[in-house]
Amino acid sequence: MKIKRHHLAFVLLSISAAVMQAADPVVPVVAPTKATDGKTIFQTVCAQCHGNNGEGKVELKSPSIAGMPSWYVDTQFTNFREGRRGHDAADPQSFMMAAIAKALQPEQINAVVEHVEKMPMVVPQGQNREMAEASAQAGMQLFQERCMECHRYNASGEMAFGSPPLLGRQGWYLADQLKKFKTGKRGAHKSDVNGAKMVQISNFFIEDDQMLRDVVAYIMTLNPDPNASKETQEKQILEGSPFESARTAQR
Ligand code: HEC
Ligand code: HEC
Repeated sequence: MKIKRHHLAFVLLSISAAVMQAADPVVPVVAPTKATDGKTIFQTVCAQCHGNNGEGKVELKSPSIAGMPSWYVDTQFTNFREGRRGHDAADPQSFMMAAIAKALQPEQINAVVEHVEKMPMVVPQGQNREMAEASAQAGMQLFQERCMECHRYNASGEMAFGSPPLLGRQGWYLADQLKKFKTGKRGAHKSDVNGAKMVQISNFFIEDDQMLRDVVAYIMTLNPDPNASKETQEKQILEGSPFESARTAQR
């Protein structure tokens, strides 16, 4: 037990070193933990990088994860632990996250995964929602033709396909992940069956940077109004994009 704890402290120290080498000025101090309840693990470990409410941090390029379904978080932890994601030191974000995933015990992971699912989704706004020089209208067509069969019409995800909700993530994070799929930083490992789907899709159908920004801009319109009541937000998510209902109403 003692050895394991030393090991964890060592791994977490190495992460800070790796982040520093990546020339990132913001180095989170991640405390090692023996805690076994999800909330405490979240507060002592995850919150350093993903924020106290799981809203993510642009300066660390860490995604908002609050409310993410446990099946997806669990799969990603397995991917990070088994080297399907975060195997490339040239991708400091996933490399860092992989080190965290490997430093936790399986029962700690189970507990924190449950906790993350229970946290209320943080609706992206401001710089987390805007896509510069992009047309949501143009992105809508691509989304409907190539994305919604797996991610659903409202981007709420589909467990049966392993496709996560895209709602709740920051626009820049979604764009970064699409670039990672396109450049082989994510989804390229031979046993990453689900990642491979996205490598194919993004290489075949997202032809250039403009298309990438457009499709993300459309996905962002599927997020509810950050200032609406929880009830209204739920309704807006079910209805899909307000942009689209405007179009349907014109017909
Ligand atoms: C040292 C910073 C750091 C810590 C601590 C950290 N994360 Fe992360 N996490 C990241 C970054 C950065 C990414 C984005 C990785 C990428 O770009 O591929 C990430 C990605 C993830 C993802 C993948 C999300 C997706 O949309 O695919 C999940 C899930 C996740 N983290 C959960 C957690 C949980 C739960 C904890 C606490 C046990 C935690 N993280 C601790 C930095 C961190
Ligand atoms: C054949 C099914 C399928 C289609 C079609 C598809 N996806 Fe995916 N997508 C997935 C799966 C499965 C994952 C999860 C990959 C993993 O487990 O790492 C995913 C993951 C993603 C992610 C990463 C999300 C995160 O939280 O890290 C983004 C972004 C994404 N898809 C966007 C798109 C866009 C945009 C399109 C259309 C151009 C699209 N997807 C079409 C199945 C699909």
